[in-house]
Amino acid sequence: MKTVLKKIIFKLGMASLFEKLNFAKEKMRMKKENNKFKKENPNVILPPDFYIYETFTLDYKKYYSGGKETAKWLWNHLKDYINSKNLSILDWGCGPGRIIRHLPDIVGRNNKYYGCDYNKRYVSWCQKNIDNVMFKKNELAPPLDFDDNSLDIIYGISIFTHLSEKMHHLWISELQRVLKKEGILFLTTHGEVMKQKLPKEEQKEFDKGNLIINSFKKEGNRLFAAYQPCAFFRELCEQNNFKIIKHIPGEVINNKPLQDVWILCK
Ligand SMILES: C[S@@+](CC[C@H](N)C(=O)[O-])C[C@H]1O[C@@H](n2cnc3c(N)ncnc32)[C@H](O)[C@@H]1O
Repeated sequence: MKTVLKKIIFKLGMASLFEKLNFAKEKMRMKKENNKFKKENPNVILPPDFYIYETFTLDYKKYYSGGKETAKWLWNHLKDYINSKNLSILDWGCGPGRIIRHLPDIVGRNNKYYGCDYNKRYVSWCQKNIDNVMFKKNELAPPLDFDDNSLDIIYGISIFTHLSEKMHHLWISELQRVLKKEGILFLTTHGEVMKQKLPKEEQKEFDKGNLIINSFKKEGNRLFAAYQPCAFFRELCEQNNFKIIKHIPGEVINNKPLQDVWILCK
């Protein structure tokens, strides 16, 4: 229902207005909680509200404390597969640094940390406000500014979820290029549990194994959503010479469907 309504709004050319109204509504809704967080955490530097809203949810506590929990959760998934020290770690599509800002404290300062995004405003904010991480801007399409076989770990949390089919192919191949042999790639996608967000006819297409795209804004934006059936994503990874170490299908927690997790090895 929500997707159908969004499609009508988009067809009427009202996507930007919808976005502005929704942002204003979220700001109002979260005002008390967010002010409380700021009062209790005066030393936490926060990105502009719109950056948090556009990449996540406009909730300071979820952005900062939740971001730290996500960074720990991520490292718990990764650490079993890592043998070496002095790692090079990239957050591909880092947004305003929700996860990468915590990693040096969690994983150790002896590693090299990088973040990149195609949105120059996020990259610029991160460069000015986050220590111990080097941030680089990339374009919507590859390449990344990294040498072949140069990174031990790459993670992309909710990035393929905003890309077209063509970009799926280009990016998985680019991630393969920059990852070291035996390096680990950690990705999330909109899998089976997310399909409930789609209209019935798109659910049928999803069930046939086809990638579904709902574009309410330009590619890369959160209002451009891609839904990846398991078979589609598995084939994409395998065709690009990734070994699938683990696929964790998303669960529904508190009525909220979570993204699928893919842990891949080169
Ligand atoms: C839903 S947000 C997630 C941000 C961050 N990974 C997090 O979990 O907080 C998606 C992010 O992907 C970025 N993005 C989209 N397409 C990209 C691309 N081709 N290359 C790099 N970043 C991209 C967007 O700018 C945005 O920051």
